[in-house]
Amino acid sequence: MDRVALVTGAANGIGLETAKRLARDGWKLAVLDLPDAGLPDKFKDLGDTICITDDVAEDRTAPRAVATIMARFGRLDAVVSNAGIMVRKPIAQLTLAEWRRVLDVNLTATYFLARTAEQALRAAKGAMVTIASTRALMSEADTESYSASKGGLVALTHALAVSLAPDVRVNCVSPGWIATGDYAALRPADHAQHPAGRVGKPEDVAEIVSWLVDGNRSGFVTGANIVVDGGMTRKMIYAE
Ligand SMILES: NC(=O)c1ccc[n+]([C@@H]2O[C@H](COP(=O)([O-])OP(=O)(O)OC[C@H]3O[C@@H](n4cnc5c(N)ncnc54)[C@H](O)[C@@H]3O)[C@@H](O)[C@H]2O)c1
Repeated sequence: MDRVALVTGAANGIGLETAKRLARDGWKLAVLDLPDAGLPDKFKDLGDTICITDDVAEDRTAPRAVATIMARFGRLDAVVSNAGIMVRKPIAQLTLAEWRRVLDVNLTATYFLARTAEQALRAAKGAMVTIASTRALMSEADTESYSASKGGLVALTHALAVSLAPDVRVNCVSPGWIATGDYAALRPADHAQHPAGRVGKPEDVAEIVSWLVDGNRSGFVTGANIVVDGGMTRKMIYAE
C-alpha cells in the first residue's frame, strides 16, 4: 500500500528537498505552496503528485488540501507543516498586522492543518512533523514574531503528540542555519563557527523528516523537538 504525505511550503528550500526525499523513499506526494511559487514546475517529473497552490493561512486551504488528497489517494499518512515566513523588524516598526501574519502562517496554519487532518492521520496511524527553528530556543534582536511563532510550534507539537496519541506521532524539527541558496558562496568563517564544521543543507533536515514520518524507524519517538543545527545551540559565545 502506497503511503501518502503532504508537505507545505514545498516549492523551495527545506520543503522542496523534503518532498523530493519522501518521493525517493517511496511516498506518494501532495505538495502545497503559494500560487506564485512555481510549484507545478518543480514536481513535473513526479507525475502523480498533487500540487495545491494556495496560502496556508487561509481558512479554505487545509480542508481543500485534505479533501483533494482523500479523493485522489484515499489516505493520508504524514503531514509535514513546513511553510514559514520571517519578518525582521524592531518592535517599534513591526505592525500588529505583520505580527498576526507571521503567527497565522507559521503557527495557526499548522494547528488548523492538524485539526483538519486528524481523522485521516488517525485512520492511517500516521505522523505529523512541524518545522520550528532554533529561534524557538534563542534569539537575535528584532525577531519577536518569528521566535514567538516557532516557540509556539514546539509547544503545539507536544500538545498534539499527547492529544492525538496513540494513533498519530507528532514531532518537531528545529533547524539552525540551513543554506537554501548558493552553498558555494558561503565563507569559510560561516562553516567554521559551527561545531559540526559546516553550515546546514536542506538535505540535513529532509533526512530527519524522512526518519520521523516512518513509524518503522521512529515509532517510539513522539512529542520530540529535534534540533538540527550543527551544534550552534550548544556553543557558548562571549565577546573577548
Ligand atoms: N533555512 C533556514 O535556515 C531555516 C532555519 C530554521 C527554520 N527554518 C524553517 O524551515 C521552513 C522552510 O524554510 P526555508 O528556509 O526552506 O524557506 P524558503 O523561503 O526557502 O521556503 C519556504 C516556502 O514556504 C512557502 N510559503 C511561505 N508562506 C506561505 C504561505 N502563506 N502559504 C503557502 N506556502 C508558503 C514559500 O513560498 C516557500 O516556497 C520555514 O518554516 C522556516 O521558518 C528555516
